Amino acid sequence: MDSTTIPGEHSFEMDFAPTEIWLNPERFPELHPSEAHVWRFGLEPPATELAELESTLDDRELRRADSFRGKGLRSKFVAGRGMLRRLLGGYLGEAPSRIAFTYGANGKPELASDRTEFRFNLAHTGSLALLAVTKAGAVGVDVEALRPFENAERIIERFFSKAEQKAFLDLPESERFTAFYLGWTRKEAYLKAVGTGLATRLDSFDVSLTPGLPAALLRVEDDPDAHKHWEMFDLNPGEGFAGALVVASSRESQGPREIRRFVPFSGAETWDSGKIDRHQSPR
Ligand SMILES: CC(C)(COP(=O)(O)OP(=O)(O)OC[C@H]1O[C@@H](n2cnc3c(N)ncnc32)[C@H](O)[C@@H]1OP(=O)(O)O)[C@@H](O)C(=O)NCCC(=O)NCCS
Repeated sequence: MDSTTIPGEHSFEMDFAPTEIWLNPERFPELHPSEAHVWRFGLEPPATELAELESTLDDRELRRADSFRGKGLRSKFVAGRGMLRRLLGGYLGEAPSRIAFTYGANGKPELASDRTEFRFNLAHTGSLALLAVTKAGAVGVDVEALRPFENAERIIERFFSKAEQKAFLDLPESERFTAFYLGWTRKEAYLKAVGTGLATRLDSFDVSLTPGLPAALLRVEDDPDAHKHWEMFDLNPGEGFAGALVVASSRESQGPREIRRFVPFSGAETWDSGKIDRHQSPR
């Protein structure tokens, strides 16, 4: 094992992520302009529920669903899009099937109505999904399942900027696993907020990744004020997962945006393969 190889026998927990409460709200929550809401749900609903969710999808989504070949991928896509529609329907007071999307040049879905301030972003890994919703402006969310890996040096050279690589290599080996996932999810959430995906070079911006330091967008090429335009947050979706959220900053002096975390209903956390820490969803 070389000095940059990340050992596999850690606890799969992010060392510095605070415990977070994911609430199952009694009534559909109101979204204040200063907030972002993040919903957590599983992607393996029972067959009847899956059929109900599928009935709300539009033709484009059904075609996309049918293009998935791998085991369970079709139903996970259907569950993700169905829940997206159901939750957005809750905010908009609309039937899920009536919600219409438009797609950006790099595929980012947005609500088609130009009368709504709601912006959203969906992320999934395996059988877990996160949905972020806000009225603040562009939003991006990422979730990753924590997996041990080798050849960290090669991976960070490919995906991290020079400044991020230095920050990573300056850390003791015991902190690098956490640092890697902090960096990865923050970068991905930023790319998703901007909506450009891989059209934006991964070395054209820096995020913080040192465990214990705040989540931050440190530099964006050609935008010296980027740190004023975006706010970045860590999410702790449950044991074995890391997540990050990036929201457009609509004002600069009113203090940090409030992030509220929800599970849609008490069954939602059983819509997964048992990977979510159920103790984090108090009833
Ligand atoms: C879509 C993209 C932005 C993220 O893909 P991903 O990591 O596989 O997937 P996630 O689960 O995080 O997000 C997928 C969801 O984001 C949304 N999405 C699709 N294109 C998007 C875009 N350009 N911007 C933001 N969100 C997008 C969709 O809702 C999609 O889910 P759906 O297809 O089921 O509706 C991908 O194009 C990409 O560019 N990934 C960057 C990968 C990378 O190299 N990351 C390195 C970070 S260090």
